[in-house]
Amino acid sequence: MGGTGRLGRALVPMLVAAGHRVRVMARGVSTSLPETAGGGVEFLHGDLASETDCMEAVAGCTTAVFAASGFGVTGSDPRAVDRDGAMRLVRAAAAAGVEHVVMMSMHGAAPDGPIEYLRCKAAAEETVRTSGMAWTVIRIGALLEQRLETITAPLESKGKVLVFGSGSAPVTYTSEQDAAAVVLRALSDPALRNRVFEWGTQTLTGNELAQVVLSRAGHGKVKRIPPAAERFLSIAARPFSPFLARVAGAAIWEETGAAAFQPAPSRAEFPDIPVTGLQQVLESAEAGCQR
Ligand SMILES: NC(=O)c1ccc[n+]([C@@H]2O[C@H](COP(=O)([O-])OP(=O)(O)OC[C@H]3O[C@@H](n4cnc5c(N)ncnc54)[C@H](OP(=O)(O)O)[C@@H]3O)[C@@H](O)[C@H]2O)c1
Repeated sequence: MGGTGRLGRALVPMLVAAGHRVRVMARGVSTSLPETAGGGVEFLHGDLASETDCMEAVAGCTTAVFAASGFGVTGSDPRAVDRDGAMRLVRAAAAAGVEHVVMMSMHGAAPDGPIEYLRCKAAAEETVRTSGMAWTVIRIGALLEQRLETITAPLESKGKVLVFGSGSAPVTYTSEQDAAAVVLRALSDPALRNRVFEWGTQTLTGNELAQVVLSRAGHGKVKRIPPAAERFLSIAARPFSPFLARVAGAAIWEETGAAAFQPAPSRAEFPDIPVTGLQQVLESAEAGCQR
């Protein structure tokens, strides 16, 4: 589920290369789905809001990976996708005899978490833990590539890189490649069964991230979004851009420092899973632009 999203687009080729047969289910809204299967991948148009679609998605599968999200996509929201969609999918998987479910979650997920997304993720985690199937919950940090895209959106047109809040709060990011690599490992390594696992790449403040981007770009300035503007947007933007409102709400949470965690203990347990850090992410983005 979510095989056409950011993480999904990194994961699917890894799964295929490792010899897995893959079925991807998505609505085809954020990214259109190919009409035909190819390269070891079957594409299914389906909505996590539909029990029938969820049943069809998992039929005949041994493993299900939930990498869908309603946080950043058009016409969806975390309650419908990250909570209710995940619960529907897990129930369908259990009924279909799926053996193992990997649930993508986020550092900070908790039933009483300060933002809705974290509460939705906690509900999905609880469903998978009590499903009767083998399970793995992978809590990642904010995806590094998505954050880079957000802060550099006005760089070419306005010469600005965005810094949310004070810019001094540390945030632990996970790169798409790193998140995909740990999902792949979870499918085969019993050490990753029946546990909640945090997987991070790098901890940076907003100021640090902006400085790295600006020095690579060789031009531009920082544009600050002050905490008061974040608070305003987290409420006022809801009617016209629920996504912007969610981003502003997440930025307020990040300002508390709670979005930082220590990736080292998990990394020490699985030292052979490669790290794709900020420099590599920027280099591959630049290489992509030049092609
Ligand atoms: N991005 C982050 O910073 C972050 C942080 C922590 C955890 N995570 C988790 O990591 C996973 C991957 O995140 P991502 O950022 O790669 O996701 P993403 O790029 O936002 O992609 C979302 C995916 O979910 C699908 N989707 C959305 N609504 C759906 C629905 N109603 N029915 C079926 N599919 C639906 C989308 O396809 P269609 O729209 O075409 O249906 C797309 O494939 C998610 O579980 C997310 O919650 C992400």
